[in-house]
Amino acid sequence: MYKLNKMLIAALAVMGFISAKAQTTLPSSIAQVVKEDASAKTVLENILTRTSIRKFKQQPVEDAKIEALLRAGMAAPTSGNKQPWHFVVLKEKKDIEKYAESNQYHAEDIKKTPLFIFVCADTTRMAEGQSKDLWIQDLSAASENILLAAHALGLGACWTTVYPIEKKVKGISKTLNLPSHLIPLNGIIIGYPAEMEQPKDKWDVQKVTYGIRQ
Ligand SMILES: Cc1cc2nc3c(=O)[nH]c(=O)nc-3n(C[C@H](O)[C@H](O)[C@H](O)COP(=O)(O)O)c2cc1C
Repeated sequence: MYKLNKMLIAALAVMGFISAKAQTTLPSSIAQVVKEDASAKTVLENILTRTSIRKFKQQPVEDAKIEALLRAGMAAPTSGNKQPWHFVVLKEKKDIEKYAESNQYHAEDIKKTPLFIFVCADTTRMAEGQSKDLWIQDLSAASENILLAAHALGLGACWTTVYPIEKKVKGISKTLNLPSHLIPLNGIIIGYPAEMEQPKDKWDVQKVTYGIRQ
């Protein structure tokens, strides 16, 4: 049934009947909460319909949209408001081709990706001692903001792992010619979606505990 739904949506999308954004109705529990509040409905719908997109149209992402994504990233909460990040944007063909050349396994997919945002940690802004690792949470919050902003702007995006895979961290730092104080956490691939993905329904009440366990 799920597969059939997916095929129907994909067919309708190809025929142009529905936009690249997945169409879902809000679960009744959420619909009840947002009621007539259109902006709350929009925000929650954006969160619930986001899904990872890995195939893109060969269409550049406008600079104004790239800035909007970066602003969304930088709006994330960070521990002690340290904002320990730096964003490396690849949007020029020559840069993307150079990055593709450095990746023997995914070169063809990389070449077809219009935009990369590498979310990097700035070690000069990190906390010290036991709080040091909080940078991962800070940058993850920024990354999720970028994914959600991309979805809101009609773009598709997907988080791709860099940190903590040492080989990837070293390889990407070298290809991007990063100064030694920057550590790439991930590379977010972004573009106009060339595929329709149904959002996964991840709601599972078994994964919630209300109150203190007895
Ligand atoms: C920390 C993290 C690392 C991920 N790494 C990759 C990756 O290397 N390649 C990839 O295709 N997707 C990657 N993803 C995307 C996940 O596969 C995806 O979020 C998951 O399957 C759930 O699907 P959804 O995003 O459509 O809800 C990553 C996501 C996270 C949060």
